[in-house]
Amino acid sequence: MSGAVSRNPDEAQRVALTADALAGLSAARKTLPCKWLYDAEGAALFEAITRLPEYYPTRTELQILQDSGQEIARAVGPGAAVVEFGPGDGAKAVELLGALSAPAAYLPVDIAPEWLEAAASRVASAFPGLRVRPVVADFTHPFELAGRADGSVRLLGFFPGSTIGNFESDDAVTFLRRTRGTLGCGAHMLLGVDLVKEAGLLVAAYDDSAGVTAAFNLNLLARLNRELGADFDLSGFFHRAMWNADKERIEMHLVARRMQTVSLAGRKFRFASGETIHTESSHKYRPERLRAMAEAAGWRAADMWTDPKGLFSVWLLAD
Ligand SMILES: C[S@@+](CC[C@H](N)C(=O)[O-])C[C@H]1O[C@@H](n2cnc3c(N)ncnc32)[C@H](O)[C@@H]1O
Repeated sequence: MSGAVSRNPDEAQRVALTADALAGLSAARKTLPCKWLYDAEGAALFEAITRLPEYYPTRTELQILQDSGQEIARAVGPGAAVVEFGPGDGAKAVELLGALSAPAAYLPVDIAPEWLEAAASRVASAFPGLRVRPVVADFTHPFELAGRADGSVRLLGFFPGSTIGNFESDDAVTFLRRTRGTLGCGAHMLLGVDLVKEAGLLVAAYDDSAGVTAAFNLNLLARLNRELGADFDLSGFFHRAMWNADKERIEMHLVARRMQTVSLAGRKFRFASGETIHTESSHKYRPERLRAMAEAAGWRAADMWTDPKGLFSVWLLAD
């Protein structure tokens, strides 16, 4: 799909979702892009995930932002406009903007209008004088910020939640390189990155005992039924989260419980019993690898903060 979804966002998104679903389900190893997990249902389920005892990333990253806010503010300097990629509910932006000195504006960028609205109104009510300009766009494609920010204002990119881990490593470098161009001269980027750790902790974070992550994953099939008229039988699939040690990533899959055929957009897709749809990868990084990726993209890794247990990291990249 193209980057900015503007004239008829619903139709543009439906066309893009159809194209991605047909391509992904036709592949030898079936897959669906994780960006489609976040419709209104998915957004609500993800928010519930962030409150689960097993899901350490959100509370750990928020704590790092709270503890290091003053240092981040000093390094960034006054008057920066914050461009947030994938803001979710905007809670982390509120923390960051509260620490920064005289932020000029807040520009959340998200593919899901439901998220954007929530993040923009949360930030606007926390900072009544602040300029808030939401941008509906797919950040895996080039998109325009022009006209959204005053050209003379320095930009601070903000990409929390380890959403960068959803990219394959090469795509993460491409994203970081392109973002450096989008943010322009003198920009900074604040990046939240989940770290490699013991597999048991990781799997539990993506396969909680209450089954919320399972519902979040299965909602993707429900979305294809709702929006594209597909006929997935949700009881025919179950959620699996697994640690792929070679690739240092958690993979989420939907596993077919039995042989079955599903129709979508006039096509039929056959599933063998046990066949999976790979719906999300969450790569975990070692600090030296993340630093190398940032440098390969033309950024300088200026600083890094972590929590006492070394679970999560927040990086400040400089142009
Ligand atoms: C895992 S949530 C993280 C939310 C929040 N940043 C946090 O740290 O809790 C991912 C966010 O990125 C958005 N997103 C995922 N893929 C996207 C894409 N390709 N383009 C734009 N937004 C995307 C989702 O809609 C959602 O708001």
